[in-house]
Amino acid sequence: MACSTRIIAVWIFLLHGLITGYPRRRSSESEDIRNCTITPPHLPPTATNTSERLSALRLHMQSHNFSAYIIPATDSHMSEYIGERDKRLSWMTGFTGSSGTGVVTLQKAALFTDSRYWIQAERQMDCNWELQKSIWINSIGQWILQEVSAGERIGLDPFLFSIENWESYNQILEGSDIILVPLEDNLVDQAWGAQRPPPPTNTIYQLNDNFVGSSWQEKISVIRTQMENHGRKPTAVLLSGLEETAWLFNLRGDDIPYTPVFYAYTLLTKTDISLFVNQSRLSKEASQSLVSQCPGPLCVQVEDYNQVSTSVRKYAQQDGVRIWIGTEYTTLGLYREIPLEKLLVEEYSPVMITKAVKNAKEQEMLRAAHVRDAIAVIRYLVWLEKNVPTGSVNEISGARYVDQLRSEEANCKGPSFETISATGLNAALAHYSPSNATARNLTVNEMYLLDSGGQYLDGTTDITRTVHWGEPTDFQKEAYTRVLMGVIDLSRLVFPSRTSGRFVEALARRALWEAGLNYGHGTGHGIGNFLSVHEWPVGFQTNNVPLGKGMFTSIEPGYYQDGEFGIRLEDIAVVVEAKTKYQMSEEPYLTFEVVSLVPYDRNLIDVNLLSSEQIKYINRYYESIREHIGRELQRRKLDEEYLWLEQNTEPLSHTNLLTTSLSTLAVGTLTSTLLPRM
Ligand SMILES: *[C@@H]1O[C@H](CO)[C@@H](O)[C@H](O)[C@H]1NC(C)=O
Ligand SMILES: *[C@@H]1O[C@H](CO)[C@@H](O)[C@H](O)[C@H]1NC(C)=O
Ligand SMILES: *[C@@H]1O[C@H](CO)[C@@H](O)[C@H](O)[C@H]1NC(C)=O
Ligand SMILES: *[C@@H]1O[C@H](CO)[C@@H](O)[C@H](O)[C@H]1NC(C)=O
Ligand SMILES: *[C@@H]1O[C@H](CO)[C@@H](O)[C@H](O)[C@H]1NC(C)=O
Ligand SMILES: *[C@@H]1O[C@H](CO)[C@@H](O)[C@H](O)[C@H]1NC(C)=O
Repeated sequence: MACSTRIIAVWIFLLHGLITGYPRRRSSESEDIRNCTITPPHLPPTATNTSERLSALRLHMQSHNFSAYIIPATDSHMSEYIGERDKRLSWMTGFTGSSGTGVVTLQKAALFTDSRYWIQAERQMDCNWELQKSIWINSIGQWILQEVSAGERIGLDPFLFSIENWESYNQILEGSDIILVPLEDNLVDQAWGAQRPPPPTNTIYQLNDNFVGSSWQEKISVIRTQMENHGRKPTAVLLSGLEETAWLFNLRGDDIPYTPVFYAYTLLTKTDISLFVNQSRLSKEASQSLVSQCPGPLCVQVEDYNQVSTSVRKYAQQDGVRIWIGTEYTTLGLYREIPLEKLLVEEYSPVMITKAVKNAKEQEMLRAAHVRDAIAVIRYLVWLEKNVPTGSVNEISGARYVDQLRSEEANCKGPSFETISATGLNAALAHYSPSNATARNLTVNEMYLLDSGGQYLDGTTDITRTVHWGEPTDFQKEAYTRVLMGVIDLSRLVFPSRTSGRFVEALARRALWEAGLNYGHGTGHGIGNFLSVHEWPVGFQTNNVPLGKGMFTSIEPGYYQDGEFGIRLEDIAVVVEAKTKYQMSEEPYLTFEVVSLVPYDRNLIDVNLLSSEQIKYINRYYESIREHIGRELQRRKLDEEYLWLEQNTEPLSHTNLLTTSLSTLAVGTLTSTLLPRM
């Protein structure tokens, strides 16, 4: 699944119409929503009374002479998932969705969010808040222009705004004489007061050598070499993204849900290394490792997390320095500490680019994690096959069970995002996660979509499979097969080195487009080694880096039929060298190798739609599943799963339909589920 804010923004931008076309209503009784047009208003029990919170915020606004205050839904590191303490928008509004922006004036309050969350917002907000059905900065700006008069001031926390967002707001408000005022004291935090959750205190630990691609000292040298080689001669790199610091020092923490990172910044210069973190949280081994080469250029000075602004400012005051930052993760708060002439601003920091290319050891670890992950998913699919027909599984119990199966695998540290377990029409909502109010029972009459992943010490995983245990309609089979064709066509593509993903992503859509179908989200995202499940900047969008050997990306086309069903198939693939007949250039051409090793649903494949090349591809893929997963299932004596795997990886062919059915008939087990395939 790909749904980080920076990814979602582009998805929705690309296919706004499709996304807003999602069904507004899922089921009637579960949707007790607010009604603010009657007196007194109707408020469901799920709504939060925000009157006191708003009054408290407005008092603080008045003391700073602000006519409005902007509340984003992120943290100071532009994280995709945020800790409890950073859920300021949720606390202010009652709305717990992951994407949105709040704007509070002295009279009004508005929440801006996208269509995934409209119903949820109507259930959770009281009538103090108006719902604005858009996430565009443009719409927010227009609303502000209506509500705020010329000469008035709008407050914001500069540590919650990326450089890009800051510039967009400025552009929209340009010429209006409305003044944006960055204020480091966060006014929501002031209103929240003692109720605000405290900063995390759990231990920040060092990764065991088995789970490290290269030592942190080697990584530092690589980044310093890139600084040397850069034409604009940066003297320092400033890292704001939590994954950047975690990756660089081979440290992990538990501050953010689903992502094993910890709050920190890094300022790496040619001669010094400063790590801004709560020092008392570092494990003994971690502390020792960081100072093991002191004094010297590989000595890490640990400074307090809150010192970062002061230290960056001090460094930037020196003559002849230039600080390299990436726009994606750096906030206005740090950006404005550095004089323009001392900045080297690029879209990505050198750490993000370097991290994106996995070395041999990192590749091996990710592959190993995907083998164990496939075992968990296969065990789940086998279990479903037995239990769904008895009517005893619903979306939530299913999600819990697959999470549990993963947790039984070696090195597993939990899910890499909230499991999407969706059946029937719920699966048409691309980012649905089940709740008590919406959970449906799984049945053999509906398609079921599972999008889930794990955090393992050696790698992060993410896989989607869609299955049907009964008789899918012809249209469902066709749609599924066309989605599968998209996976195959993109996965088997051979392309020149450094091709941008955006030039090839249409291959994942071609089979759907040919039939007048499409999907309203992106086609893939990078993934980390025990880091983020949506690892920037690899992927297929306009703002992703060109594809290079050693990068990992998901490939995940889908199809969603409003109010009926949803299909998505997602594999993780590594970019590898292709064997081409000719070699025109020094650099070999590239292709993908899929490392997710779970068979597709035969019951949903219409083999007649597949070309022989596509069939050949699947059969090769199935061979590789048998080799890697079959062996492991046997080793573990998971006999039932092994048998299931053998059956589900039988080679496909245009002519074997008949033979399969006949042989099945021969043993007298021809069931109705086999018939539609003929
Ligand atoms: C609110 O209640 C009024 C009066 O009962 C009704 O006409 C209107 O449709 C309701 N609005 C919503 C959003 O339910
Ligand atoms: C919300 O809480 C305030 C007191 O904090 C109370 O005066 C008000 O009536 C409550 N609003 C609703 C709709 O319950
Ligand atoms: C508050 O801002 C307004 C402009 O919006 C200005 O006219 C006024 O003097 C300011 N008041 C204080 C107390 O700063
Ligand atoms: C730093 O971590 C320790 C626990 O190791 C905790 O007691 C302390 O409050 C933390 N300090 C800050 C500023 O968060
Ligand atoms: C789901 O199945 C359970 C039994 O497992 C049953 O009690 C419940 O009524 C079913 N729910 C729906 C919505 O059909
Ligand atoms: C959902 O229902 C289960 C059992 O009925 C309960 O334990 C759980 O707390 C509920 N979850 C929520 C979010 O209401």
